[in-house]
Amino acid sequence: MRTPINQLDNRLVNQIAAGEVIERPSSLLKELIENSIDANAALLEVQIERGGLKRITVKDNGYGIPKEELLLALSRHATSRISQFNDLFQVNTLGFRGEGLPSIAAVSRLKLTSRPMDVDTAYEVKVYGGMKVSDPKPTAHSIGSTVEVLDLFYNTPARRKFLRTEKTEFKYCDAILRQIALSHFDVEISFVHDGKLIFHCLKATNRAEKEKRISRICGSAFAKQSFYFEDDYSAMSLSGWMGLPTFSRSQRDLQYFFVNHRVVKDNMISHAVRRSYSDIIYNGRHPAFILFFSISPNLVDVNVHPTKNKVRFRDNRAVHDYIYRILHRSVAQRSPEQVIPLPILSFDKIRNSSGIRHREEYGRYAQKNTRNMAQEKLQACDSITSSIKFGDKMLALPNPEDTSVARKYQAKVNLSQGTKSEQVVPLLGFALGQIKDIYILSENMEGMVIVDMHAAHERITYEYLKLDLDRQTIRSHLMLVPVILNVSIREAELAGLYQQQFSNLGFEVDQIGEEQLIIRAIPELLVPADVETLVRNVLADLTEYGKSDRIEDTCNEILSSVAYHSSVQDNRKLTVEEMNALLRQMEEVECSGQRSHGRTTWISVSLSELNKWFVHGR
Ligand SMILES: Nc1ncnc2c1ncn2[C@@H]1O[C@H](COP(=O)(O)OP(=O)(O)OP(=O)(O)O)[C@@H](O)[C@H]1O
Ligand SMILES: [Mg+2]
Repeated sequence: MRTPINQLDNRLVNQIAAGEVIERPSSLLKELIENSIDANAALLEVQIERGGLKRITVKDNGYGIPKEELLLALSRHATSRISQFNDLFQVNTLGFRGEGLPSIAAVSRLKLTSRPMDVDTAYEVKVYGGMKVSDPKPTAHSIGSTVEVLDLFYNTPARRKFLRTEKTEFKYCDAILRQIALSHFDVEISFVHDGKLIFHCLKATNRAEKEKRISRICGSAFAKQSFYFEDDYSAMSLSGWMGLPTFSRSQRDLQYFFVNHRVVKDNMISHAVRRSYSDIIYNGRHPAFILFFSISPNLVDVNVHPTKNKVRFRDNRAVHDYIYRILHRSVAQRSPEQVIPLPILSFDKIRNSSGIRHREEYGRYAQKNTRNMAQEKLQACDSITSSIKFGDKMLALPNPEDTSVARKYQAKVNLSQGTKSEQVVPLLGFALGQIKDIYILSENMEGMVIVDMHAAHERITYEYLKLDLDRQTIRSHLMLVPVILNVSIREAELAGLYQQQFSNLGFEVDQIGEEQLIIRAIPELLVPADVETLVRNVLADLTEYGKSDRIEDTCNEILSSVAYHSSVQDNRKLTVEEMNALLRQMEEVECSGQRSHGRTTWISVSLSELNKWFVHGR
């Protein structure tokens, strides 16, 4: 329902986070689109020229503005969203300051045309450089509004100088459109630049349609390598798509976080998200995600920054912990299944390939039927090493609730001959041979498994090191020359408060002055690390979030680096026994419920998938 626009009184105006909001074409585009969304538009047509520098037009089919309010809409501090102070704590719309349109009109030639739902005639008004050019005059327009902005900063040449090239400004505009497309699935959006259609997204109501839009906006790789989750917890809810750890990025370019459908940049939230992926994404890589956080409007203050992309939660800690808990759980529940691209192989290459070792074995297995294959390989493995026990070790999953891949892929085979007991084909199957001395090719009940030898070994080493770290009390290393740290009074207090936690982790940190700490000992594992920065960051975390995981994160980073350097290198020939031993160790790691460490270690291709490659049975 539409509320009339009203002029805010001075007292209320002074309560609103004010400041320059129109910096570049993309910022005015954001203001215009948000206005359309607040007007309940279901259709949005955006056209820009020359990166938005020449012209930006936003047309919507929202509830429109009556003729008598058109000029009011363009005057400062006039808004239909709030009327009194308390409304600031119940903001349900994207806009609330009554500053968007007038700020744009002050630095451009703006034309606003609108026709409310129950009116036959549309009216337009023009404001150039903040000055009214004409009174509202009738014109043709469908129900809804169009704002056309020409020649941004034509009257403020100094600000024009800060603009970038058309191409760069276009990119900023494009980024805004993508954010809107992802945060408002219920709006059909078309975006045209210099007469060229950049994208057109139909309204998306169900999951499949939303994922189609995501694929369009974020690329099909993300759509395929991400998973959907949702959680509803009374005052807060969180849902969205998270990229698999293996779909990590070198930049933070695919990270969207919306609070009540508003794009928000918030360090506390970033910290919670980063934490939930820590230990499963390599240092320096960034996760990809689209997350929707909803919270009751009275628990979040949106009146923090003039650009309206910052918020303040009433209970920061509760929000942080909720987001972290849900994301951490969602990521941990995922299996390391990967999307396997269909390989394009040339027939000649296959015929001439000398990559597969143990050809005889491969051929031998290939001639047998599945049951016999399984039986033969079980027998073969029995003779390989006594430490590989089928039937008890591999069957014994740690947790009956566990939904990990191990359970999914484990297949029971009743062997009528040979042994009487029920036997199991292990998750990663039995090694057939090595490909280019880099990959292990193996066969399980589902079909084919390819294991990256180096990644697998690295993963196993990492998990073992970590287990050691978890079991032992961490050894301290007394520093030859203690480090003196100058800190704030608050940080010094926190160091005292958390002294026991520091000491559990192998640190000896004492306060020696009101604003001075001394580090006398550090965990042995951290000897090569920059301890001063680490302690400072821990204290900064404690100040901001009341807790810190940096020591643990740093230990994990160091472990993964140790694991990397001490693992089997590529191009090493392994015997079948060694290959099978590696596969069994990998399974233990998978079964232990530990998570994958970002790098893909193995992929599985089912027989039906293989059949598809060859259009089997056509
Ligand atoms: N596309 C539109 N459709 C219908 N009404 C609109 C549209 N654009 C603006 N308005 C009306 O004009 C008023 C002023 O818009 P303006 O963008 O200046 O302020 P706001 O959206 O209220 O707050 P903010 O400054 O935070 O954006 C709005 O409150 C709304 O009532
Ligand atoms: Mg607005």
